[in-house]
Amino acid sequence: MTAPNIPLGNAGNRSERAIISVRNLVKYFPIEAGFLRRQVGLVKAVDGVSFDLVEGETLALVGESGCGKTTTSRCVIQAIRPTSGQVLFQMDGTPAVDLTQIDKKALKVARRNIRMIYQDPYSSLNPRMTLLQIIGEPLVINRAVKGRAELEERVAELLRMVRLDPGAMNRYPHAFSGGQRQRIAIARALSLSPKVVIADEAVSALDVSVQAQILNLLKELQKELGLTYLFVAHNLAVVKYEADRVAVMYAGKIVETAETEALYISPKHPYTEALLSAAPNPDPDTRNRPRIVLTGDVADAGNLPSGCAFHPRCQYAQDRCRRETPELVNIATAGEPAHLSACHFAKELELVGIDVAVREVSNG
Ligand SMILES: Nc1ncnc2c1ncn2[C@@H]1O[C@H](COP(=O)(O)OP(=O)(O)OP(=O)(O)O)[C@@H](O)[C@H]1O
Ligand code: SF4
Ligand SMILES: [Mg+2]
Repeated sequence: MTAPNIPLGNAGNRSERAIISVRNLVKYFPIEAGFLRRQVGLVKAVDGVSFDLVEGETLALVGESGCGKTTTSRCVIQAIRPTSGQVLFQMDGTPAVDLTQIDKKALKVARRNIRMIYQDPYSSLNPRMTLLQIIGEPLVINRAVKGRAELEERVAELLRMVRLDPGAMNRYPHAFSGGQRQRIAIARALSLSPKVVIADEAVSALDVSVQAQILNLLKELQKELGLTYLFVAHNLAVVKYEADRVAVMYAGKIVETAETEALYISPKHPYTEALLSAAPNPDPDTRNRPRIVLTGDVADAGNLPSGCAFHPRCQYAQDRCRRETPELVNIATAGEPAHLSACHFAKELELVGIDVAVREVSNG
């Protein structure tokens, strides 16, 4: 079955070409019990996710803990194999390949172009390796450099790229702060000159002031190198400065996708409204409105509620919501950038967003 084409929206001066198209991605983990480890259920970690990652853009994937962000990212890069669905990858005029179907050799080539940065810069760097070894490892494994001199030259260049002193390449990670370690992880991710970088909560473990520095660095590197980012975060406040478009995830599904400003100013899904209500709001007109408190826990991926999985926590839920699962559909008016929502009442509800003036100021 072919999934419907996902409208890309207005990509501004970016190319409209999807470098990665995820179609109906599903990842179920078996729940096993008893001595014989019989399968007694399924954890529906990712349950039919589709999105396009447009060349040169930053798409943020946002949602509470356990909604399936990491599983989605790992399925994109094929670190884990999805249960079903397609991950189409298309580079510079070559035909798209489905990463879920290609052999190991072809996957190795694709993985040179799609790299990940992880959340914890302490555990993701081997403490017994020098910066030269850490950053140089992908270059050596992929035979991308000839000899020691070329390796050192490339590692020095990468260290300068992340604004670290190339003279430090023979030191070990313990000599560096959290923010510096994340720069080292970024240098490693960039060593093979990838096209796409997946950053999974790349700043969550850092102090707020350091977070801003790393976010700025990622933005600068995107401009310099023409990178495309899939930026995973649980917090809408962080992605406001970083993302061109946002996809909000709940219980293994994308429930809303829009250009960042449209999503913040005019959310079209009650879950997004609730997430925004918890984010700092600079708008004096709506700053003092009552906060939407999300009661109950995030839906259990091993035992999802019927119909709309958000219904037990949704203040607008009706009978229909308990029976019918809403599809993710484009509700933007003709000619406007795409705005997708998976809510039966997306067009009727008047949801409250927040002002994004801060974003414009910060972008200068
Ligand atoms: N290997 C696994 N086996 C069984 N269940 C798993 C496995 N990996 C993830 N899950 C479950 O899948 C669901 C989605 O997990 P995932 O790590 O993708 O969420 P997340 O959105 O990245 O959360 P967080 O914000 O905490 O990182 C959760 O219910 C999780 O417990
Ligand atoms: S479909 Fe119903 S329960 Fe789900 S978000 Fe919309 S109003 Fe709420
Ligand atoms: Mg995660």
